[in-house]
Amino acid sequence: MKNLLPIFLAFLFLNLIACEPKKPAPEKDNLEGKAWWKEGVLYQIYPQSFKDTDGDGYGDFKGVIEKLDYLESLGITMVWMNPFFESPMVDNGYDVSDYRGINPRYGTMEDFQAMLDGMHARGIKFVLDVVVNHSSDQHDWFLQSRSSRDNPYRDYYHWWPAEKGTPPYRHSLFDPEGAWEYDSLTNAFYLHTFAEQQPDLNWENPKVRQEVYDIMKFWAEKGVDGFRMDAFQFASKDTTWPEFPEGHEKDFIKWYGMRPQLHEYLKEMYAEVIEPYGVFAVAEGAGSTFQDAHDLVDADRKELQMAYHFETVDLSRTPEGYDLADFKNVFSKWDSAFAEKGWISIFLSNHDNARMVNRFANPDPKFITPSTQLINTFLMSMRGTPFTYYGDEIGMTNIDMPTIEEYVDVEALGKYQAAKSSGQDMEEFMQILNYNSRENGRTPMQWDATLQAGFTTGTPWMRVNPNYTEINVSAQDQDPTSILNHFRKMTKVRKENPALVYGKYELVQKEHPDIYAFTRKGEGQNLMVILNFSKNSSSIKLDQLPTESNLIINNYSDVNVNDQDMSLNLKPYQALIFSFD
Ligand code: GLC
Repeated sequence: MKNLLPIFLAFLFLNLIACEPKKPAPEKDNLEGKAWWKEGVLYQIYPQSFKDTDGDGYGDFKGVIEKLDYLESLGITMVWMNPFFESPMVDNGYDVSDYRGINPRYGTMEDFQAMLDGMHARGIKFVLDVVVNHSSDQHDWFLQSRSSRDNPYRDYYHWWPAEKGTPPYRHSLFDPEGAWEYDSLTNAFYLHTFAEQQPDLNWENPKVRQEVYDIMKFWAEKGVDGFRMDAFQFASKDTTWPEFPEGHEKDFIKWYGMRPQLHEYLKEMYAEVIEPYGVFAVAEGAGSTFQDAHDLVDADRKELQMAYHFETVDLSRTPEGYDLADFKNVFSKWDSAFAEKGWISIFLSNHDNARMVNRFANPDPKFITPSTQLINTFLMSMRGTPFTYYGDEIGMTNIDMPTIEEYVDVEALGKYQAAKSSGQDMEEFMQILNYNSRENGRTPMQWDATLQAGFTTGTPWMRVNPNYTEINVSAQDQDPTSILNHFRKMTKVRKENPALVYGKYELVQKEHPDIYAFTRKGEGQNLMVILNFSKNSSSIKLDQLPTESNLIINNYSDVNVNDQDMSLNLKPYQALIFSFD
């Protein structure tokens, strides 16, 4: 018996380490109070367009590895990377056919690990995109599911047997013909909220949920620090399939999103993955009311840590742009809804949107620098975790694509078909698409002025924006007044001034037509942020003025104050932050 004890203990120990998640237990304040994901500055990488090293025209992991020092130089602390899994690429990787496999276009698992380790070595956390509202129709689950009505995977997806007649109409975001697709193989319809090749997974099935948690654990064990839950508000469905009133799809989120069961599933996910692995999760979408959003992220609910809503990014959808009063209102209202509880992200662009410069700044060469610096100052000064989309740190702009032939994006092509069949004015449609399409935000990263902007030595998967000769990293790197160096300053300012993370936000002179001014107070600091959103000079009277000693950031070389009447005169798109007593 004596001799067996060490063996027994070794066995016990091995079992213990096999069962224990590799990641440390989360800190107590994971949801409430201070947290790394609140203090972080996130940078989003669209891997296909970031940096190609093998000349195939697609960005790859080795390209990201090559640019790790650049990422570190930006002062960002988190990277969210769009999907890089095995995929037929109908929706550029948002149609996953193997959640544990890497699309060879991006490299191997070893390359992924090297990239992740390289980020960690530089203090950068990694956020994985989890696309589980739907899979690809080429995923083995779906191939099995569609093969027969009694296949064990049948209930992994939503099926409507055709003998019951036509299913109640459901809108699809990508397919003008609606979200039910007839499949003759088993004489049934399957549901797809996005493209026909992206069947919705059945979250009501506990086996599906377990599969998802296992996938998340697989990546958490590789060391990823967080998850971005794609299209997640739509995951749970009312499977009694009631008829919805005509036109309901105009209020898509209200009818299709945030079902009560979703919260049960999130609690389950939190207990299974988020808490034990000490990881963080952010949901795409936050429902249609503040209550919905709070239900996702309030600390005591233990569901998610963060969500992002679309109300701010949706402010500018046509070439006419947006109104500053609305901009102030929407940001202020979301801030006040989350002043006491919960946490959201702050962003104005991502891979589903046209470029921030065109929609919220001013792409005119005369103004692009100060106006982009102003928007970046704004994003880094608000309460919430700032998300920056690759290229926005150098002011990349929309690409001009006036005719449909050049479009490859499944969303743009679906919208085009829908507009055509409903008899819309196609000239006007194309003008808006050209301004607003998400292809604008997917052009290759502009590294330098060499051929293909230094993105690839081959033919890029998508045309490089011809303005790369002027707008590129290399041109801005050494220029202290560039958009890039202002961005670097702002990430530093954010880190050095905790009031910008945790301080209370208060709008100043709400009615000012050109200037967005607000204070951030807390953590022993009082900060004033003053942003002139106009291409003209503008002035504001204040109780406190910036001085040489209290000025924290300025995107011009000087400040024009008048101590007599306590006014501050700002140049076009001038952005200032100063501290006050
Ligand atoms: C999300 C993604 C988007 C994708 C869609 C379908 O909205 O951000 O890019 O097309 O989900 O997965």
